[in-house]
Amino acid sequence: MPNVAASKGPLLRVEHLSKYFPRGRERFAAVKDVSFELQPGETLGIVGESGSGKSTLSRCIIRLYDPEEGKVYFDGVDFTALSEKGLRRKRQDMQMIFQDPLASLNPMMTVAAAIEDPLVIHKVGAPRERARRVHELLELVGLDPAAANAFPFEFSGGQQQRIGIARALALNPKLLICDEAVSALDVSIQAQILRLLQDLQAQLGLTYLFISHNLAVVEHMSDYIAVMNHGEVVEYAATEELFRAPKQEYTRTLIDSVPYIPRPGGRRIQQPKLEGIPSTAFDIRPPLLAETPVE
Ligand SMILES: Nc1ncnc2c1ncn2[C@@H]1O[C@H](COP(=O)(O)OP(=O)(O)O)[C@@H](O)[C@H]1O
Ligand SMILES: [Mg+2]
Repeated sequence: MPNVAASKGPLLRVEHLSKYFPRGRERFAAVKDVSFELQPGETLGIVGESGSGKSTLSRCIIRLYDPEEGKVYFDGVDFTALSEKGLRRKRQDMQMIFQDPLASLNPMMTVAAAIEDPLVIHKVGAPRERARRVHELLELVGLDPAAANAFPFEFSGGQQQRIGIARALALNPKLLICDEAVSALDVSIQAQILRLLQDLQAQLGLTYLFISHNLAVVEHMSDYIAVMNHGEVVEYAATEELFRAPKQEYTRTLIDSVPYIPRPGGRRIQQPKLEGIPSTAFDIRPPLLAETPVE
């Protein structure tokens, strides 16, 4: 069942959020007065160069960091004011996917154990139900359920990211924060994972906060885009609008740096290209131990 917001209005509202870090004797704002809203089922892309504050922003939203200033309302609840216990419960609905899925997976755990882990932590279901759910999740992300007893390191990068996505989906979240989720992957594999994320969004009614330094990737995924520079959102617009009529010089520079293949007629083809690539193109098979890249 799609896990959509119970109440109308934005699923996520960020208000005047700031986060400071020490720099020498001073402190600087890694995130500075950021505000936005994200409606259920939509994708907000956050783009900006490395160091512009994207990860810090996402960490404040999910409360891995406590922001010094500002508020985060999630699914009608003041997320910033939640107690540890309330946070643990509510955080089930907000999950994160990282650039390096291996880093967030316990190397001693099999794929099945890694995906089941959030269910165990939150005491969801009996062992048999959990095993069924793991099976279902593996299929959902385009992995052969026979992969369950292998270890994450036995898989290719794209497959590892699928494992990370399956784990993130285990608790049926409403919001998925993808922080550079495809940045470490080859372009063709990026396209498969992006396509998978789009399919999952349609199927499960997910809401995405999609973060990348790569505007081409963000463009593919986003209904709206927020451009960050030095901790601030310097421009916010619907995706088409941003490309058609960027208001800031900085945004224009980012757009001009997007890789493209020139084509007769002068039209741009943004990379990576998703059309015609099924999200499960090459990934349904048992894990491969070969050293050669398999995708
Ligand atoms: N834990 C931290 N302590 C001190 N400075 C940090 C920390 N995390 C990030 N920063 C700094 O905050 C700024 C924003 O970093 P980050 O949010 O990681 O940017 P991005 O994800 O856009 O690359 C950078 O200048 C970075 O060096
Ligand atoms: Mg980052």
